[in-house]
Amino acid sequence: MGSSMKFETRAVHAGGKPDPATGAIAPPIHLSTTFEHGPAAETPLGYIYVRDGNPTQSRLEEALAAVEGGQAALVFGSGLAAAAAYLQAQPAGSHVVYQEDAYYGVRAMASEFLPRWGMEATPVDMTDLDKVRAALRPTTRVIWAETPSNPLMQIADLAALAQIAHAAGALLSVDSTFATPVLQRPLELGADAVHHSTTKYLGGHSDAQGGALVFKEAGALSAQVEHIRKILGAVASPFNSWLVLRGLRSLSPRVERHCANALAVARFLETHPAVEAIHYPGLESHPGHAIAKRQMSAFGGMLSLRVRGGRDAAIRAASRVRLFVNATSLGGSESLIEHRASSEGTGSTTPQNLLRASVGLEHADDLIADLAQALA
Ligand SMILES: Cc1ncc(COP(=O)(O)O)c(C=O)c1O
Repeated sequence: MGSSMKFETRAVHAGGKPDPATGAIAPPIHLSTTFEHGPAAETPLGYIYVRDGNPTQSRLEEALAAVEGGQAALVFGSGLAAAAAYLQAQPAGSHVVYQEDAYYGVRAMASEFLPRWGMEATPVDMTDLDKVRAALRPTTRVIWAETPSNPLMQIADLAALAQIAHAAGALLSVDSTFATPVLQRPLELGADAVHHSTTKYLGGHSDAQGGALVFKEAGALSAQVEHIRKILGAVASPFNSWLVLRGLRSLSPRVERHCANALAVARFLETHPAVEAIHYPGLESHPGHAIAKRQMSAFGGMLSLRVRGGRDAAIRAASRVRLFVNATSLGGSESLIEHRASSEGTGSTTPQNLLRASVGLEHADDLIADLAQALA
């Protein structure tokens, strides 16, 4: 798969060689947990045991490395498992600077688990580069950015963060789940690793959990993360790897539609009297719009809105939707909405009047009509 080809072409073909045994175009799902080896555990075909790796997972990894432009990719049982393995691979004593508005599971990992792993972490508003610089310590090994962020849709300047990280001898890792590689390719902007919850747009149908890391360079760090996956066991199943690979094939046109629908919904909400604020980086009024325009090719299918009247008004609106479904997660065909603070639960810092929406693939007019009646 030539890296000179356009993104859309790579997304359709990467990791997609017809099955050499049968010519099958759809890749086989290899469910085998074990593979024949030689008498001294020689592995002529490269596989030995499913926790180490399996052919379906390898195809997905080859594909993700190709679409993100990295030398190596590793897939996991969930997005959080991928994030955990990346952080566990850092030396004890490391300090991590992470996005204040990162996915709440990452925030919980940073505050509850990093100290147990002998590491320290500082949450930072990554829309303010001076705050990022001020948070750095001699031991800082990782800047963990998430852009757009979940749920406030903040935009972090990835090229600037890469410079800051590298000048400090740290790595920049970017959770690009909301953007997908269709819209944003952090490695091209200087990041060292990209993280995805493939549960979301990459899978695309709300039916497979997974996570991925793509590394700019295959080297000691990617090898250590792979070792952690093997020994701590957070592997992706063959079937979920297959589903995510299938999702990747249609990712470009799906994301185009998500973006068009989300922009239409955001423009409707922007002027709605019941809406106090709308967070969507595709709107000129969004404080990160200029950066988003520079580093993304469009603005994604996620948005959040703050409802006038506080928590009760937000929950009332959520209770009235008919087409949107009250559910967490994102990136599937169907539009979802949720009162984010309720779903994050204890320790949530999300504003109480905020609803987060994953704008799906329905017709934008129907989505707008549903929100109009819910907010009326
Ligand atoms: C931006 C982001 N990163 C990471 C995760 C965690 O992924 P997973 O649920 O697959 O563990 C999520 C899940 O919602 C997410 O939205």
